Amino acid sequence: MAVLLEVRGLEVSFPGRGLPVTPLRGASLEVGRGEIVGLVGESGAGKTLTALAVLGLVPSPGRIAGGSIRLDGRELLGLDEESLRRIRGGEIGLIFQEPASALNPVLPIGRQLTETVRAHGVAEWGAARSRALELLRLVAFAEPERRFDAHAHELSGGERQRVMIALALAGGPRLLLADEPTAALDLSRQAEILDLLRDLRDRLDLGVVLISHDLAVIEETCDRVVVLYRGEVVESAPAADLFDRPAHPYTRALVAVMRAAVERPRSRSPLPVVPGQPPSATQRTNGCAFHPRCGERLARCEQEPPPWIAYPAGGVRCHARLPRSGAES
Ligand SMILES: Nc1ncnc2c1ncn2[C@@H]1O[C@H](COP(=O)(O)OP(=O)(O)OP(=O)(O)O)[C@@H](O)[C@H]1O
Ligand code: SF4
Ligand SMILES: [Mg+2]
Repeated sequence: MAVLLEVRGLEVSFPGRGLPVTPLRGASLEVGRGEIVGLVGESGAGKTLTALAVLGLVPSPGRIAGGSIRLDGRELLGLDEESLRRIRGGEIGLIFQEPASALNPVLPIGRQLTETVRAHGVAEWGAARSRALELLRLVAFAEPERRFDAHAHELSGGERQRVMIALALAGGPRLLLADEPTAALDLSRQAEILDLLRDLRDRLDLGVVLISHDLAVIEETCDRVVVLYRGEVVESAPAADLFDRPAHPYTRALVAVMRAAVERPRSRSPLPVVPGQPPSATQRTNGCAFHPRCGERLARCEQEPPPWIAYPAGGVRCHARLPRSGAES
């Protein structure tokens, strides 16, 4: 599978009272064409910041302190604002949780879509309108002409999110970043959006980064999963492997809590709560950031940074997964 997005060693820092705060500490991930990659991790792990960094939108006074972000082999770090603006919406689309607040309440959705298509270079109104109708059809509006003049408040939450996806696709992106796109929806609407993402992956050969707190959503939808813990990738694997045989103690704990919750009625399953607190962004450790919560902790875990152990289709960052670690425990 051709690599579409390649993030390597991404570091993002904010000025702190003393030393800078570094919420992303060398995060890496890859997304292929026609692949949905799930990005999971508890609140504050750095998921949104990763997506913002890819779009060149790290909030000020934060800055990208190191690493590389390549789209189809082209380095995005260091590009000027004008080039980044063209890439946003053009080559990379973004959708997020709150479609209601992102849509203009007074402009009919068809008009908003037509104007976005025009902003992406289709100047002529008739052609832009035809493209807008085509985009609505693409995001599963069966009769787009009938909904063209509707306002955002006349649509269901799921329909609004589908309009947001159409807007994000208006510039013909190859990559879609979706940050908690179903978090505000009920289960049936959620399923509708996830089906649509899979359909777009297949029909447009779209690469998708799906950020979600909901592990059931990730398991159902993603081809591969990347687990972030305190700004670092601790595990990356094909989704089936990650859920069947999680390798990192944090992933194991997440999956175990998720499986244990399956018995209970599930209206929504947020990221399972793993006992203990994550370290704050200002806390520093030489060793593994997960060690205060880890049941598999070894003597060296507190002092030595765990190595990245590469597997054929991913990898894990953990001392306990080193082949000879058994002798120590
Ligand atoms: N504007 C900012 N100023 C200072 N620090 C920030 C800022 N934005 C993010 N951070 C830091 O980056 C960390 C990661 O934030 P991010 O929004 O990426 O988390 P997340 O994984 O998306 O969490 P959630 O699941 O709650 O959305 C935060 O814990 C915070 O320390
Ligand atoms: S490196 Fe050590 S503390 Fe960290 S997850 Fe692995 S076993 Fe646990
Ligand atoms: Mg977030």
